[in-house]
Amino acid sequence: MCGIMGYVGPRDAAPIIIDGLKRLEYRGYDSAGVAVHDGTSLTVAKAEGKLGRLAAMLAEHPLVGSCGIGHTRWATHGAPNDRNAHPHTDPAGEIVVVHNGIIENFVALKENLAAGGADFSSETDTEVLAHLIAHEYQGDLLEAVRRAVGKAEGAYALVAMSRREPDRIVAVRMISPLVIGIGKGEMFLASDVPAILHHTRDIVVVENGEMVDITPDGWRIETLDGRPVDRAMLEITWSAEQAERGGYPHFMLKEIFEQPQAATDTLSGRLDEDGSLVLDKVDFPDGFGRDLDKIWITACGTALHAGHVGKVVFERLLRVPTEAAFAHELRYADPLIAPGSLTIAISQSGETADTLAAAGLAKNRGSRLLALTNVVGSTLSREADDILYTRAGPEIAVASTKAYLTMLIGEYLLALAIGRERRVIAAATDDELVRALRGIPVKIGEVLKTDQEVEAIAARFVGHDDVYFIGRGLDHAVAMEGSLKMKEISYIHSEAMPAGELKHGTLALVTAGTPVVVVLTQKEVYDKTVSAIQEVKARGALVIAVAYEDDTEIAKHADEVLRIPRVPDLLSPVLAIVPLQLLAYHVAVARGHDIDQPRNLAKSVTVE
Ligand code: G6P
Repeated sequence: MCGIMGYVGPRDAAPIIIDGLKRLEYRGYDSAGVAVHDGTSLTVAKAEGKLGRLAAMLAEHPLVGSCGIGHTRWATHGAPNDRNAHPHTDPAGEIVVVHNGIIENFVALKENLAAGGADFSSETDTEVLAHLIAHEYQGDLLEAVRRAVGKAEGAYALVAMSRREPDRIVAVRMISPLVIGIGKGEMFLASDVPAILHHTRDIVVVENGEMVDITPDGWRIETLDGRPVDRAMLEITWSAEQAERGGYPHFMLKEIFEQPQAATDTLSGRLDEDGSLVLDKVDFPDGFGRDLDKIWITACGTALHAGHVGKVVFERLLRVPTEAAFAHELRYADPLIAPGSLTIAISQSGETADTLAAAGLAKNRGSRLLALTNVVGSTLSREADDILYTRAGPEIAVASTKAYLTMLIGEYLLALAIGRERRVIAAATDDELVRALRGIPVKIGEVLKTDQEVEAIAARFVGHDDVYFIGRGLDHAVAMEGSLKMKEISYIHSEAMPAGELKHGTLALVTAGTPVVVVLTQKEVYDKTVSAIQEVKARGALVIAVAYEDDTEIAKHADEVLRIPRVPDLLSPVLAIVPLQLLAYHVAVARGHDIDQPRNLAKSVTVE
């Protein structure tokens, strides 16, 4: 996820663009850049780091020109540095582009262009687009962009200018969002409404597969195949603050609702329809996966909860003993980590001090280190031998949601890749998982439609001081994360445990009305978990179950049921966590808490 901003009109473009990018920093903040047309040539300024650095550079050396585009980046291809920051140009400086999203076939496109003699100055997929458009340009930017995007595959938004056409900006939306802002004698273009709201409230939403052509006095939308589109203008009534959260009251809820898109991005270009897998930064030596005899997973907080799911998935699919360990414990435990093992360090930020220390220890002991992280160029990614980026986009709310869900998807992709090398996954299981994974973003969307039902159930938790989350196997792993969400933001004491453990102590705390959340998706242990429900029901508990939509049994046992679509049991965590995120959210809202910045907690813990 990145932020895009464009301006064409009578005013100086750069300050307007910088101001717009500031309001889009929630979409990315690892580097930023601006390109401006001064009537004769295009000038680009860009800088690694937060937008403030670029703004300071421009304050010293202003860019003059009234047509420009800008970008705030959240890296997906290429480390966050000056070189990889957008905008990108072709070598002659004729075409300049910014882009948000992923060009899936950029390696093939780049190889083609390189074979024709093209030189690249960055590692990005974006630069390839600048080359392609320049290559296709015959005097009309719109037509050049149309031809270039005809060769590109992926989910992205692209904005381009040509040196030979001052006062014109052309853009394309392929899934990633784009809106036009209509001013008086001036036009704006942005990834999201907050960037332009204080200039105009008249907005046109660009839809998928559409091209945009803007000049100071006009805008035009057409389809990729050239048919004009008649689109009505919208008047936005949100406040600037509301707009930044996409109309959601909190970033956490926005991020929960972004999960179908985040899951799509995690899978994008990695798992093809025919089942082929491309994990570009995972490059095991020959035979490594085949001979692997131990996997260590290490992380903290939510990331470790994703690791607990990974442990079950790796052991089931790969038959490799796997341990998921708290990083702060592992680093002092003198663990039996040996060469030939794989250590997967999971971290949204890639900067958690304990996780870095445990990962370093594993590496020192000869283990191969794989980073499963959301932040390109993070310390963890730099230290790892292999990297799998989750591509969740920036996560603002302290309580992690979309990062967790995309970590799970990353683990399934890894398990499939290693399983294929070991030849241990039956073809039918492999097929079933591939199909189910490809369909998972839509199913996450279906779970989100139950939000109002979850909200109604949340009301039953509000006055309680203690809640319990139970499940077995993978359901227990999900219960741990559901419980953590609940305590982080609702401040209700919450514990998760395997359903079979209840009777060894915790049952003493279950009294009339105690809420017990039961996750119940695993066929082999279903009846056993139902027995645990009966134990807590006998003590008067209020039982809320998370179960498949076609489970006809559960309503006989639970007081309330949160339904998820059917998927292979191994994948159920990806769906089962979603109602639990929503539950924690609504309980915390009803209790009047600060949702995005809960007390005493930090997004990233970079000290021990
Ligand atoms: C903090 C955050 C958690 C996060 C944990 C690990 O405690 O509040 O949400 O799960 O750190 O962070 P990481 O960036 O390593 O995933």
